[in-house]
Amino acid sequence: MPKVIIDMHEIEVPEGSTILQAARQLGASYAPPAMCYYTKLEGSGGKCRTCLVKVTQNSAKDTKGTPKLVASCRTVVADGMVVENFISEEVVSARKDVVELLLINHPLDCPVCDQAGECDLQNLAFAHGEEITAYEEPRRQYPVQDIGPLIKLHMNRCILCYRCVYVADQLTDQRQHGVLGRGDAAEIGTYIKKAIQNDFSGNMIDVCPVGALTDKTFRFKSRVWFTKPMNAHRDCKMCSGKVVLWLKGSEVLRVTGRKDAFGESLEFICNGCRFESKALEQWTVEGPATVDVRSVISQNHYDAQSRPAWETHALLD
Ligand code: SF4
Ligand code: FES
Repeated sequence: MPKVIIDMHEIEVPEGSTILQAARQLGASYAPPAMCYYTKLEGSGGKCRTCLVKVTQNSAKDTKGTPKLVASCRTVVADGMVVENFISEEVVSARKDVVELLLINHPLDCPVCDQAGECDLQNLAFAHGEEITAYEEPRRQYPVQDIGPLIKLHMNRCILCYRCVYVADQLTDQRQHGVLGRGDAAEIGTYIKKAIQNDFSGNMIDVCPVGALTDKTFRFKSRVWFTKPMNAHRDCKMCSGKVVLWLKGSEVLRVTGRKDAFGESLEFICNGCRFESKALEQWTVEGPATVDVRSVISQNHYDAQSRPAWETHALLD
């Protein structure tokens, strides 16, 4: 098993692990942010560049480093590799630039976006972003596209991470949408105005790191930090039936999959659980869900020590 040093901490990881996976094994405080990589989605990663790190030593045998920063989600570790993440000024500065790039076309409509409070880009901008931008051109604007009765597409907010395309490809038996066009003309769409309808399509909402895909049955019902997330389960023939209910009193405002410490779905759930089971009696409630420490929902529930390093650094700046 190769040994790798990340931010001065050594860890032994399985052969073939990427730097990002190794850093995640060290803990959330050591893991670079990731906007496009998703463990359960084959081929994901390598699109957003938020996970850049500096390799100062390639391996025990090759003590040179790589001249340029590398995407940690796509770079496999070698025995004796030394990596700098948060301790490298070059990495921190590059991440600021990446945030600025991602925000070039992303509208700053957090006050009216359903994703606010659990948006990876919002967290990333808070931790790494600058208050100003060098970009003066008009932002891209897309006409509203109707992709069916359950999911709302806000293409203006999309950062083209491709996660939703991989979900459609790998989880459902029919993919009706994809990335159309290339370069600054690239956009998510269905091309011939099709509704996205299949039993697992709702998972696209869970994997979307921004508010480009939102749940139509939850839109504008409540800010997420005013709801109470509870783990619950039910017998379901399509999926595990293990979900999080977002409650206001006893009203189920929305149903989502459960997520791990890195904001990734533990299990993908079916549309029956997500959209059609909004009565509390249909569920066995297990207890409060563990909330992502970076979410405002967790405000005052965690001390600074348990926050990821990148957020603690931002708070100390
Ligand atoms: S809609 Fe969301 S998940 Fe799909 S590519 Fe855009 S940002 Fe990624
Ligand atoms: S998470 Fe590595 S490039 Fe996006």
